[in-house]
Amino acid sequence: MSADRPGLHTVTQGRGLLFGGDYNPEQWPEHVWEEDAALMRKAGVNLVTVGVFSWGRLEPSPGERDFAWLDRVLELMHGAGVAVDLATPTASPPPWLGHHFPRTLPVNEAGNTLWYGARNQWCPSSRDYHARSTAIVTDLVERYADHPAVAMWHVGNEFGQVCYCDEAAEEFRFWLRQRYTGLDALNEAWGTTFWSQHYSEWEQVLPPRLAPYIVNPSQKLDWARFCSDELLAHYKAERDLIRELSPGKPITTNYMGFFKPVDYWSWAPEQDIISNDWYPDLSDPRFPARAALTHDLMRSLAGGKPWMLMEQSTGAVNWRPHNLPKPAGQLRLESLQAVARGADGLCYFQWRQSAFGAERFHSAMVPLAGPDTEAHAEVRAHGLELHELHDIAGTEVRADVALLHDWHSWWAAEERARPSDRLSVVEQLTDYYHPLWRRGVTVDLAHPSSELSPYRLVIAPQLFVISDADAVKLTEWVRAGGVLVVGPFSGISDPRGHLHTGRFPAPLRDVLGASGEAWRPVDGEVECAWRDETGFKQGFFTARDWTETIRAEGAEVVATFPGDGPAVTRHAFGAGVAWYVATLPDAAALAELTARFMADAQVSGVLAELPEGVEAVRRGDLLWVLNHGDGTVSVPFEGDAVDVLTGSPLRDGVDLAPRGVAILRQHAGPPATR
Ligand code: GLA
Repeated sequence: MSADRPGLHTVTQGRGLLFGGDYNPEQWPEHVWEEDAALMRKAGVNLVTVGVFSWGRLEPSPGERDFAWLDRVLELMHGAGVAVDLATPTASPPPWLGHHFPRTLPVNEAGNTLWYGARNQWCPSSRDYHARSTAIVTDLVERYADHPAVAMWHVGNEFGQVCYCDEAAEEFRFWLRQRYTGLDALNEAWGTTFWSQHYSEWEQVLPPRLAPYIVNPSQKLDWARFCSDELLAHYKAERDLIRELSPGKPITTNYMGFFKPVDYWSWAPEQDIISNDWYPDLSDPRFPARAALTHDLMRSLAGGKPWMLMEQSTGAVNWRPHNLPKPAGQLRLESLQAVARGADGLCYFQWRQSAFGAERFHSAMVPLAGPDTEAHAEVRAHGLELHELHDIAGTEVRADVALLHDWHSWWAAEERARPSDRLSVVEQLTDYYHPLWRRGVTVDLAHPSSELSPYRLVIAPQLFVISDADAVKLTEWVRAGGVLVVGPFSGISDPRGHLHTGRFPAPLRDVLGASGEAWRPVDGEVECAWRDETGFKQGFFTARDWTETIRAEGAEVVATFPGDGPAVTRHAFGAGVAWYVATLPDAAALAELTARFMADAQVSGVLAELPEGVEAVRRGDLLWVLNHGDGTVSVPFEGDAVDVLTGSPLRDGVDLAPRGVAILRQHAGPPATR
């Protein structure tokens, strides 16, 4: 995102928070469109995403064009005062593309073709796909570039395709040649002396296709990089076309949270608007914290600026094995949670529930039962309420704490052959995030090579790959006063996937004042002991699955494994502190450790005390308090405030109903005397 480009502010200007959803009128006869427009107005809808899956309607046969229906849709939306986020239809090619241009169809790692009949059947490296998608996008954008209904552009949908075909292999080799110039460098980087994998001609180099045994991890790591870059190249090609033909309108594509195949750090600078699709699993007890973590990732990708929740569901999805509906109040709570964490757009998949096709059982803003339903009443009430909050658009959220996350490290860490598959990058991020969230501490996600000066506490729950330059930077940041926490299996590999030699984590050994020599996964739990400054045991906690043989080299030992080897160390280094946690502590122990990290970093939550299940975050000058629990809770705070939602004055605390939300404007100065 660049400052001189149009952005989300271009769309929110004069509209406030954006509310709406994916609108697929091509699934309905035109008389329903009229009802849609009327209902949208009543529900305060001000933005709809149109055309995501309309390639087959726009180009029913190769080269044919039918834009007349879309003309009418855009006119109708414009007349209803609903802005359009117009999508390029390239996520779902019509069957004719695969039929006439079979090389557009993706091939999986086993060499099987993935056919049309669903969606997403395109190979990111296919020249035929590129030519045909560019043609339809050009005509679409030329036609609607200046249409007054079109407020922004939406490229494709949820980029994530991977293809192992011969054309992809060619492109992979091209990408590798840019990276390594010569085969010698490639052989060196991939460590091909192992198992006799030496390449003597470029033509021998392939994607990591299905093979008899474990495929070279460095080859797979480069393949993951290539796949993300290849999709990005496709996104950029469409984007550049739109920029040329429709300058002045911002462009987005929708992310999928912690979606492993795509490195969103490299994508984010290429987008005018960061947008995300978020479908929590209500059967996961930690889903509210996961939601917060994912929203914080989006805000961080947007460089701290507002972002958009492009898709969420009003109720149940239909693609999990068992799909829980949302209780009353949940859709509002989830949407306001995203606003609290920096979202300026709250959109849903989809406006009207489909009567046919693969998503017949997916909830929508207008259910099949029609507008006279509890579900639609909730949607309408929420839309109107968001309207009242228009001033919030554009305000920002600040964090003192960062969690380090790097897609390349994630790819490298979760290789097939490793000490334990019970280590999970995203689970460890969530484990460390959760106690901070519980205490109302706002967290950003940061790439390890990003600027860390805004933060006082930086946590790397599992940073398997760390470059020497980043390790030096982190070390100097601690020396200058930062507080760093490093979790297990961090600092183990270089960016090629070669493990560092010497005691681990080699590049962070000095700053941690501790080092290890062996990973020792365990089956189930181990009992660890807290130690005081004199080394005495001060209680116990459990950890699971993972232990290490480490020794303190200047750090104090905070906790030990059975057998008395260090499990957690703390090292005063320069003006800062570096912690090393060599296991997966249980939630209570991580909460205890988090309190100590916070004390070292002098970081505190936005409220002194938060009842279980209550989330608190400050956006702009407003304090948001959200009750994710099923019971009424009282949340204490000091002094006077006004609840912006109700206008009620409050003193010293607020009561929140189940799934209730309060947005507080606190009054400066000491509390008034009673
Ligand atoms: C994704 C897609 C939508 C729809 C929803 C269903 O987010 O982008 O087209 O399939 O999932 O949950």
